[in-house]
Amino acid sequence: MSNKYPVVVYGASGYTGRLVAEHLRDLGVPFVAAGRNRARIEESMKLVPGIESARYEIVEIDHSVESLTQLLEGRKVICNTVGPFMRYGREVAQACVNTGVHYLDTTGEQHVLTMLRDDFGAAFAKAGLALIPSCSYMYGVSEIGARYCLETPGVDSLDMTEVAEAVPTVASAQTILDAVRFPAYYLKDNELVRYPGIDNCDITTPSGRVLKASNWGGTSNPIWFAADGRVRNCKMHVAMWNQELWKKELGLERAYKVQLQWLPEPVLYQVLDSMAKGITAATPPRESRYVHRSIDVCVGTGSNVMVRSTMVATGGYFTTGLMQAYAASRLARETPRVTGFRSPSEVFGHRELMGALESYGYASIKVERLA
Ligand SMILES: NC(=O)c1ccc[n+]([C@@H]2O[C@H](COP(=O)([O-])OP(=O)(O)OC[C@H]3O[C@@H](n4cnc5c(N)ncnc54)[C@H](OP(=O)(O)O)[C@@H]3O)[C@@H](O)[C@H]2O)c1
Repeated sequence: MSNKYPVVVYGASGYTGRLVAEHLRDLGVPFVAAGRNRARIEESMKLVPGIESARYEIVEIDHSVESLTQLLEGRKVICNTVGPFMRYGREVAQACVNTGVHYLDTTGEQHVLTMLRDDFGAAFAKAGLALIPSCSYMYGVSEIGARYCLETPGVDSLDMTEVAEAVPTVASAQTILDAVRFPAYYLKDNELVRYPGIDNCDITTPSGRVLKASNWGGTSNPIWFAADGRVRNCKMHVAMWNQELWKKELGLERAYKVQLQWLPEPVLYQVLDSMAKGITAATPPRESRYVHRSIDVCVGTGSNVMVRSTMVATGGYFTTGLMQAYAASRLARETPRVTGFRSPSEVFGHRELMGALESYGYASIKVERLA
């Protein structure tokens, strides 16, 4: 295959794949729209604004290491949007190793991060390749805010919150349910500590509203910052503007512990997927910038310092599309400054990623020194 199209969008028929294609088109990056069903990819590409001036081709493949390896031959980078990633991520990562291609995905799940790190991190590093999960709203955006706080010398603890408007897509709903099966961790005194279960707490929005939040699978940030010698503590909680969701999450955890955990995996996936259909049965409409807004706050503290970053962003799927496209456009042309298992900000720079979000009108940030 030729390298006329250096970027592969895998899962191009999906809600997120389509948004990645939209932003690649805007950035002028040629790409392959790949997935398991050509007709669905064609339908999806028709919905991409400005697609008439995009340089792309469609490739239909089955989800196997062999087919993915063939697809990736001669490419530079893959934007993997086929989730849940614990089910489908390994084949893609292996094909990247086989062909010397950088890997980006949109997972926010700790168990996927650690699987990628443990099973593929060394091979990517050895090959000079970047393995970058969470290049997405959850939790690439909050990570940017945390890294602004870490610019203040002496900050060693990150207390992070997020308030988001969820429009879960089909695979997002499956991903949320899948995640209930896996343990979640936060960073305390340089150790990753396991939460006993879903951890609920109240958080206050900048406008003073009190919302019920949960640890939401722990988030990617404790995993990133456990490997950062500056950071002793990192914890994050997520609240949804739709306040019913945390109750549903607790109910699901209870159902899993009481009834579902005994099921063999293929049966369990069927049950979880039918429950996910109860949340989202079909692809939701395009996000609206005037509805789907989020707030990410990080308070960084040390013995004698305190700093707060506040990020306001719009459309978690829009920001994900842009972050993927921006990251892919850079990896298509430059040698990453670090390789192996890395966070988006480690590879691309938190200020540069923020610049990309700001230049698109998707987010803004305020950083205040409190003490
Ligand atoms: N962390 C974040 O902020 C963030 C943001 C956006 C998305 N995500 C994650 O990204 C993933 C995708 O989300 P989405 O919104 O694009 O969902 P989606 O609209 O349901 O799309 C899922 C995509 O995966 C493909 N797919 C599913 N099962 C497959 C299989 N067995 N083999 C090959 N392809 C398969 C689908 O292909 P078909 O059309 O052929 O079914 C489709 O292209 C989810 O895990 C979601 O949680 C995370």
